[in-house]
Amino acid sequence: MRDLLFHGACSAIILTLTACGGGNSGSTILVGEFASLTGKEATFGISSHEGTQLAIEELNAAGGVLGKKFELKTEDDQSKAGEPANVVNKLISKDGVVAILGEVASSRSLEAAPIAQQNKIPMISPASTNPKVTETGDYIFRVCFIDPFQGTVMANFATKTLKAKKVAVFTDVKSDYSKGLAKFFKEGFTKAGGTIAGELDFNGGDKDFKAQLTAIKSAAPDAVFVPGYYTDVALICIQAKQLGLNVPLFGGDGWESETLLNIGKDAVEGHYFSTHYAADAASPKVTAFVAAYKKRYNGKVPDAMAALGYDSAMFLADGIKRAGSTDGDKIREALAATTDFDAVTGKMRINEHRDAVKSAVILQVKGGAFKYLETVSP
Ligand code: PHE
Repeated sequence: MRDLLFHGACSAIILTLTACGGGNSGSTILVGEFASLTGKEATFGISSHEGTQLAIEELNAAGGVLGKKFELKTEDDQSKAGEPANVVNKLISKDGVVAILGEVASSRSLEAAPIAQQNKIPMISPASTNPKVTETGDYIFRVCFIDPFQGTVMANFATKTLKAKKVAVFTDVKSDYSKGLAKFFKEGFTKAGGTIAGELDFNGGDKDFKAQLTAIKSAAPDAVFVPGYYTDVALICIQAKQLGLNVPLFGGDGWESETLLNIGKDAVEGHYFSTHYAADAASPKVTAFVAAYKKRYNGKVPDAMAALGYDSAMFLADGIKRAGSTDGDKIREALAATTDFDAVTGKMRINEHRDAVKSAVILQVKGGAFKYLETVSP
């Protein structure tokens, strides 16, 4: 009886291992991705997924790595708190992925990162800029810069280019990204000699921002820093214009979406934000990526999330190739040792915190499109 029980348990284990066979032992290298394909920040997830998928297709067309092709398993977290943990648990425990790619929004990466860390599965966030994401542990990486840098870039921009002396800050208190970027901007701007003329809060998903914008207007700032995501930002810009708050509004990468232009129209015209790359920059790497993406996705111009999604998959493939293995520890070590990686979003290295060190760009909304203004190096 004991023997029988023991035997039964072994079979169960073997079955589980076989079910997980897409991971280490299968004929393909199974990579998990989680993204906000639907919900409030759907354009973030759709873009990052499209970029990721394009990279996987290009890698496979070139033969894959270690003699195996990649297989991408994508899960939609619906832009909803609670879902990232669900889907990443599933990708790791049920599907047996060798690595996780995702997410764009920092709050959602922060939710999933402890699960990847506990399971020793490397996770690469394409676009989450809050410092806490990689502080979760040594299996967590990102291919984007972090908000202490982005906040400083925009603080210097406010001082030097906008020549602003007094800036109001309007923060989404529901978002780790927004709270962090607001803090780093304020530190940078006051250090550069500026004054914070007012600090107001909103909750992502709000529709009426008039009370706070009225308070901001009466503080008479030279400009308003809004570290939010595009749906909220578009409404904020519209209501600011209606209230006659006619000063520059500016923010960070969360502004970047075609939807900002489609909803905000003339109300977003002339405003500024920092982000990771400009589709109209002249580098050969960017030109090739933009052409391949347009060809694959019906002429659509790739935004920063698309470029970062692409970079995250290419970075993982490079790590697996250098590791010579799909073992989590070996991949982790190879990724951590990256001193030079040529990404679409610029040359980068991975520092001791597993963050990418690379440039930011500043764009302006002009004529209903995003126009490249400048590149700022770290
Ligand atoms: N950096 C944002 C965050 O951490 C996400 C983002 C990245 C948004 C790139 C747009 C473009 O939440």
